[in-house]
Order: sequence, then structure tokens, then C-alpha cells
Amino acid sequence: MKKLTKAVFPVAGMGSRFLPATKASPKEMMPIVDKPLIQYAVEEAVAAGITDMIFITGRNKRAIEDHFDKAYEIESELEQRGKHELLAIIRGIIPKHVNCIYIRQSEALGLGHAILCAQPIVRDEPFAIILADELIDAKPAAISQMAAIFEREQCSVLGVQNVPREQTQSYGIVKTEPESGLERITAIIEKPAPAVAPSTLAAVGRYILTPTIFKYLASIRPGAGGELQLTDGIALLLEEERVFAHQILGTRYDCGSKLGYLKATVGYGVKHDEAGPEFREWLKEFQ
Ligand code: G1P
Repeated sequence: MKKLTKAVFPVAGMGSRFLPATKASPKEMMPIVDKPLIQYAVEEAVAAGITDMIFITGRNKRAIEDHFDKAYEIESELEQRGKHELLAIIRGIIPKHVNCIYIRQSEALGLGHAILCAQPIVRDEPFAIILADELIDAKPAAISQMAAIFEREQCSVLGVQNVPREQTQSYGIVKTEPESGLERITAIIEKPAPAVAPSTLAAVGRYILTPTIFKYLASIRPGAGGELQLTDGIALLLEEERVFAHQILGTRYDCGSKLGYLKATVGYGVKHDEAGPEFREWLKEFQ
């Protein structure tokens, strides 16, 4: 029985949709209320019992490494000022038993290539992938829901959700058929036009994959958008192994778009311990 201990976070992307905010700082560091997107993603992995966080980084991404590292100067200043609550927040960003590993993707060749960069660390183990710009508010967390299936079946699981048909061109779309109480993926296509999409079930940035994927990622050629697509690797994987789709129960915010980001800020804002009550009151009056 293989246990899930590793998660890969592809964070090398430029974040052009949020320029100028992302000119000098990574899009994954954009906050939803008071936590950066990447921290929500790491917390999701920690909740699923994952201990090795593998970040595939690129230029201008130093802030992510700093965020998960000890900040002596901030800690000693907070200590001197007696700000113990804040100190605990800073120290608790990542639990002590969790390792952070950084791999540099020097060329932006696509998501499939980013994942292949993790092979020297992941080696022959199953692993999770979390795309931080897909923020999913769920209990249990999205990856935990999928890990339950992985543990039972010992095979790859993709997190999916239904999207409006006119949006299929923004996602990897799967075709499934029922098998042993689950939905087995029989086809997956990257960003199909609505007219040819095999369904409206979209991959939403959560994957648990067996290491067999690496052999296929090493063999694929540029696909949609001229990039090496993870989806194309999975399309080959599912001819060799079972790959299941799990419809994630929870609210998803596409924080790669301005509208999704704004919705996430409101969704998490109204639930926030400190700011939530007043924010909810203010929203009632707004407009
Ligand atoms: C990527 C994947 C796509 C997936 C999507 C989820 O696309 O290639 O299959 O559905 O993430 O957000 P991107 O949004 O990077 O274009």
C-alpha cells in the first residue's frame, strides 16, 4: 500500500492576467483576506497528511520561499513588542514536520513540463498536484476527499466539477463511465470547444497521480496553446491504468481570473473570524 506524502505546486507561471499586481511579486502570493493563495494550497495538503511540499518555481518567485521560511527579524520584533498572537500566526504558517523543496523550471513549457520537473524528488511514489489559483472551500478539503479514493483504489484520481458548457474551452474536460461505484475516466481533452467537449466535467486543479505519469510526460509533444499539457500525459496514462474522477464537494473560486478572485475575497471575507461580522453588515448596506 502506497501512502500519499508528496504534493507538487506548479508556481512558475507569470500571472499576466493580474498585471501590474504581479509585475514584481508572484500571483500565488496574492492574498485572500490575510493569507496568500499558496498558503491555502499548502494547508490543504497538510490537512490531507502530506509532508513534502514540492514547489516548481521560476523567476520572480523568491517571495514564496521566504513565506515558508523562518523570518528571524519579524519574529524577534513581534516578541519584543509582546505581540504573541501574531507571533504564533507567523510561526504556524507551516508545521515543523513539513519539508519544503524548491525546483526551478527554467523554461515555461507548460503544466506537463512543470510536473515532469518534480520527477527527481517524487521518483516512484504517488503524489498530489494542487494548482493554487483554484481555491476550493471544502470540508473535508478537496485533496482529502480524493485521497480517500486513492487509498482504497491505489490509482490516480482527478478532482472535477461541472462547468457551464460555454466554459469548456478553459479546462481539461473528462469523459467518464461508472465502475465499482466510482466514475472511471475514459477520455480527457485539454480545452475543447463547447461543441466537441465530451462532457461538462472539468479538471479543477486537483490531481492525485501514480508515478507512471512521468513516462508519458516525458514523451508528449506540445498540445493546446503550444504547451506540454498535463492533460495529454493523463490521456496516455488512462490507457494503461485506471484513473477515476471525483466530483469535489465544495465551493470553487477561479482565482486566476479577476472575477473569481473578487468572489473569493467576499466568500472568505464574510467567514473571517475577525473581519467577517462587520464585513457582512457592510455588504448589506453596499449598493
Ligand atoms: C490548467 C489545466 C487544465 C485545468 C485547469 C484548471 O489550465 O491545463 O486542464 O482544467 O488548469 O484550472 P490553465 O488554467 O493553466 O490554462
